[in-house]
Amino acid sequence: MAAPVTNIADLRELARRRVPRAFFEYADRGSYDETTLRENRRAFERLRFRQRVMRNVDHRSLATTIVGQPVSMPLAIAPTGMAGLQHGSGEIHGARAAAKAGIPFCLSTVSICSIEQVRAATDVPFWFQVYVMRDRGFTRELIRRARAADCSALMVTADLTVQGQRHREIKNGLSVPPKVTLHNLFDIASKPRWAWNVLRAPSRSFGNLDGHIKGADSLTTLAQWIAAQFDPTITWDDLAWIRELWPGKLIVKGILDAEDAKLAAAHGVDAIVVSNHGGRQLDGAPASIDVLPSIVDAVTGGTEVLFDSGILSGQDLLKALALGARAGLIGKAFLYGLGAGGEAGVTQAIDIIRRELSVTMALTGALDATRVPRDILWNG
Ligand code: GLV
Repeated sequence: MAAPVTNIADLRELARRRVPRAFFEYADRGSYDETTLRENRRAFERLRFRQRVMRNVDHRSLATTIVGQPVSMPLAIAPTGMAGLQHGSGEIHGARAAAKAGIPFCLSTVSICSIEQVRAATDVPFWFQVYVMRDRGFTRELIRRARAADCSALMVTADLTVQGQRHREIKNGLSVPPKVTLHNLFDIASKPRWAWNVLRAPSRSFGNLDGHIKGADSLTTLAQWIAAQFDPTITWDDLAWIRELWPGKLIVKGILDAEDAKLAAAHGVDAIVVSNHGGRQLDGAPASIDVLPSIVDAVTGGTEVLFDSGILSGQDLLKALALGARAGLIGKAFLYGLGAGGEAGVTQAIDIIRRELSVTMALTGALDATRVPRDILWNG
């Protein structure tokens, strides 16, 4: 009998065995020397909790709101590219698991299932993440499609106008659109369950980008394609343009500096996501958790501060809450669950983090996830 899955590391190991290497490593790895990827984990590991006892911790509340939306716990699923290649229909599985768990799911521009396919397969509104493309007409069209699909928030990614190189993407021959080549044929042939699920899925290429992967062939790396398509001229002034197209909740993701956080707040965004893109962009940047306090202190007014990069447990999430985040987002933990077991695997990942959060709240004496004091951290 297989050993029970008890933590996110177990889901990662299952995903590593079940997902073809090019796609597993796309999810798992970071840019360049991966110093920031490692630092995200090390910084969490350096933080220590204060243990408190005899405080009647029987009733604990995990519920909160994120950009005004009630959620069962302070967690959301981050937008991740190509989730549908960790497991066929991956974005639909993720959205359904999130809806059942009562947390938001954010669909990526570079998803495999399209906005419309996810909308048709789910009842609960999801968020949409937009990359601003050089073709502004197409960007406008993406935002229009997200409105038509009743998406409940728009997340603009600010930290990926050019791609930090991920060596594994190149070494694994990850192309745009992703293709089965001799390079990965044997790997894929040895993963029949993965192949079966991908073959049955409504999409196997970038579902939102029909007509915008032109010129791409198997020689085109993801980075080259991004360089051709994504708009590096974007500035804060462009937010006004996005605001006109999107009257709903607006979130900017990829803030790692207090000055940028202040600018985002001054531009009236509803939330920012403190993030170094999971160590996938600027290698050498600090861990997101290390800059979180300075950003929380810098942001005034109603802008909510969300957090991502490195959360692999409920303990990590509680540390982010203690340092002032309203909620955390999971990317890798979500993809590991997805690769390990589709919707059930994502549910498992969320449940693991929920249980860890609840127990750790009890052991630190923090009873309410909306008001986690900084002093539950040692020297906090
Ligand atoms: C996309 O957001 C990526 O990190 O590859």
